[in-house]
Amino acid sequence: MQKEYDFLVIGAGVAGMSYALKVAEFGTVGIISKTVAEESNTYYAQGGIAAVTNLHDSYEKHIDDTIVAGDGLCNKDIVKLVVSEAPERIQELIDWGADFDKNPGGEYDLAREGGHSEHRILHHKDNTGEEIQLSLLRQIANHPSITIHNHYFAIDLITQHHLGYHTSRYQSDIECYGAYVLNIRTKSVIAILAKAVFLATGGIGNIYHSTTNPSIATGDGLAMAYRAKSLIENMEFVQFHPTSLYYPGERPSFLITEAIRGFGAILRTKTEKTFMHKYDQRGCLAPRDIVARAIDNELKLSGDEYVYLDCTMLDSNELIAHFPNIYAKCKKLGIDITTDYIPVVPSAHYVCGGVITDENGRTSIRNLYAAGEVASTGLHGANRLASNSLLEAVVFSHRAAKHAISVLPRLKIKNNVPQWNDEGTSHPEEMILITQEFKELQQVMTNYVGIVRSNLRLKRALDRLNIIYEETELLFEKSTVSQKLCELRNAINVAYMIIKMARNRRESRGLHYNIDYPEKYKLLD
Ligand code: FAD
Ligand code: SIN
Repeated sequence: MQKEYDFLVIGAGVAGMSYALKVAEFGTVGIISKTVAEESNTYYAQGGIAAVTNLHDSYEKHIDDTIVAGDGLCNKDIVKLVVSEAPERIQELIDWGADFDKNPGGEYDLAREGGHSEHRILHHKDNTGEEIQLSLLRQIANHPSITIHNHYFAIDLITQHHLGYHTSRYQSDIECYGAYVLNIRTKSVIAILAKAVFLATGGIGNIYHSTTNPSIATGDGLAMAYRAKSLIENMEFVQFHPTSLYYPGERPSFLITEAIRGFGAILRTKTEKTFMHKYDQRGCLAPRDIVARAIDNELKLSGDEYVYLDCTMLDSNELIAHFPNIYAKCKKLGIDITTDYIPVVPSAHYVCGGVITDENGRTSIRNLYAAGEVASTGLHGANRLASNSLLEAVVFSHRAAKHAISVLPRLKIKNNVPQWNDEGTSHPEEMILITQEFKELQQVMTNYVGIVRSNLRLKRALDRLNIIYEETELLFEKSTVSQKLCELRNAINVAYMIIKMARNRRESRGLHYNIDYPEKYKLLD
């Protein structure tokens, strides 16, 4: 079985949907999502989207903040491009129906988060992602050229090498024609072919034991691109959000937005002492890598399982009005955030690296574009500045759409693509073979490749991962393809990239902190 579109979009988060809405004016679009289209990292975004929208702020300040957070590895041209194109892309989101909060004077109610020198985060209460996701979905639902396939799981990209093609840093001799996709309901695999393929599969949080990411975030797109030999970089820079709610057993971990610290909340140890002043002059509003590492250090020193976020000094009515979802969630668990401290811990949140793309979202594979969390555009460097991710997604989806539209007349659907071959396989007898490997993988990544790393821990991680990899590959060869088995295999590929790149980085920088190269980790005098 086979389907054909002009544009295939893999992923229905902010990147996939904003791209789809643009290219749909020029051809047919098939979007696939491995679950219901509402479920994405985008949907869970709380704090908001960063952009310069008033005269107190300037592009220069947003550019500087991004570069400082990125710890020397941002591509400055890309940072400038993203920051200066932000207002136009934000206006588009508004035109598509996203509503950002305003103050009584009719100006945007701008929030502040760690690493930002100004209030510049547009938000919708504390559920900005849901607002954006649902606005885009409403536009998509009404679009005659877009078909959205829920419960369609992309297994692998369909690619071919063309010896003799001219190659460069951004273009290899590999071409992409579509993807093999598992219809989860019918359990059949089809080839979806397209003239241009857009990878927008989001993040990787679930390779760690504790994450703010929903269960979809298993790094599928990264693993598919890796197997197709796309260029990938900076995977060692995994961002842990400093403040997820400490509530053992809950998955994903509920986020307590950084905007609440921008609003005045402060961190305290379990014995109620403040500590961020010991680590950074910016205190609780230092960039995320610094705050997460400081909390990790305090927990190691005290042996406690969490620190506290204290909002009790803030105006209760204002606090509830700005953060109604956090208030309601905590209240349900018996924590009144207006009077009680919130127990918080760092959790895996975002991967800064990914599939390398150029300024038009092109990957090194021909006809394959990528944007959103799966991509590495050069914006984030070694550490992403808060609320720059939704922004990056809309900027590069727009650019990729423009580029794909401009080359569309030259592109063709590939003929004679082989069908998916499942011969000689059968259903694995025991699901436990998959779930146990996944748990082991999460333990290895959490204990050896977390916020603080060492050469020995990374070596241990690689040794353990090799065993998990070999067992899983054997299972994959013998088994009928299934979502869970593919996700495990993808998570292993992603873990491998993180460990390999972490081992290759012989320094501590940004989110990658290795105790064998400790020069960057200093307490203030
Ligand atoms: P996603 O929104 O994750 O979408 C991925 C899509 O790909 C989904 O539709 C999924 O089903 C699909 N998919 C994945 N694999 C497959 C497959 N194999 N086959 C088919 N479909 C597949 N960033 C900010 O800028 N500001 C914030 O305030 C903010 N808050 C956040 C809060 C939380 C709790 C989290 C988790 C993240 C937050 N982020 C924030 C980060 C930001 O939300 C994400 O980086 C961004 O939304 C990613 O968008 P995306 O379109 O790349 O991927
Ligand atoms: C948050 O609201 O704290 C998350 C913001 C982000 O991940 O950019």
